[in-house]
Amino acid sequence: MSEQTAPRSVSVLGLGPMGQSMVKAFLEAGVEVTVWNRSTAKVDAMVALGAKRAGTVAEALDANEVAVLSLTHYDAMYDVLGQAIDHLPGKVIANLSSDSPEKARAGAEWVRERGAEFFSGGVMSAGDNIAHPASYIFYSGPKPVFDAHAELLRPLSPQEYLGADDGLAQVFYQALLTIFHPWLLAFDQATAVIAKSGHDIAQFVPFAVRASEAFPYFMEQFSVANLNGGWADVASLKMMDAGAQHIIDASEEVGVDAGFSHLAQSYWRKALVASEAAGTAVSTFALMRGEAS
Ligand SMILES: NC(=O)c1ccc[n+]([C@@H]2O[C@H](COP(=O)([O-])OP(=O)(O)OC[C@H]3O[C@@H](n4cnc5c(N)ncnc54)[C@H](OP(=O)(O)O)[C@@H]3O)[C@@H](O)[C@H]2O)c1
Repeated sequence: MSEQTAPRSVSVLGLGPMGQSMVKAFLEAGVEVTVWNRSTAKVDAMVALGAKRAGTVAEALDANEVAVLSLTHYDAMYDVLGQAIDHLPGKVIANLSSDSPEKARAGAEWVRERGAEFFSGGVMSAGDNIAHPASYIFYSGPKPVFDAHAELLRPLSPQEYLGADDGLAQVFYQALLTIFHPWLLAFDQATAVIAKSGHDIAQFVPFAVRASEAFPYFMEQFSVANLNGGWADVASLKMMDAGAQHIIDASEEVGVDAGFSHLAQSYWRKALVASEAAGTAVSTFALMRGEAS
């Protein structure tokens, strides 16, 4: 189907914070939206904004060729689509829910076995603000299927199509969240140390932002190192171990939980033990790949 003739209507199933953001983005772009959600209060809120109500999953699937799923995980997809298996043939399911790559691949197969086309997405948004300039969506799955419906989904966020592997969007999405979760917890610990030391978090934050400006440099350096087996140098590992101890002391001196820094330190220490056993420096990257113990 060409972009010119693509239907400007879509169904959205799952109206958590993310599904609601998607419905609003579609409506603002003039796309007609039919909505379904397990609990109906969220449907009422979207109908008040101009969406059409589907009383059942079957009605939501029947209403449009394309159904966007925004559910907690892939297990919820089986619960939802399982209510209307007979309405799947000929439809296109775009599952933009988060889960593991293997669960996305299994979900894709399950949908296709029931007669619908499928592609997956991972929403890399600033919270549920898909209109934020930093937000975008990873997509993966069969390229012709994605291409045929990319224009319809364009109001959601900029699109990054990665490849045919149904799990690929989730590989990249979960890899980025792998960085985000520790960062968030580290930020909590750092600001707790500032506050419990009797100082002002607002005074500290500009320095945290400034420090983050070096992250692209570190990512470039470490990606080169990791392409070559990882950064490994015994003197540096010892320095990181000692550095972790300083962070632990700074936190615990003021009663802040340093569990996260103890965990970080355990990796430097494991790498030192592995280096000793191997007679050569072993990187934490190699440890995480399971290539050294
Ligand atoms: N929110 C964000 O900031 C954000 C950012 C990026 C990516 N994401 C991802 O986007 C997806 C949706 O996010 P969200 O924050 O909207 O998630 P959410 O609050 O967990 O809600 C998602 C929807 O899933 C439905 N649901 C869960 N289990 C179900 C089941 N067994 N049967 C039927 N419906 C079920 C909920 O229905 P009820 O309303 O009936 O409970 C709700 O409508 C998630 O995979 C999330 O990881 C979210």
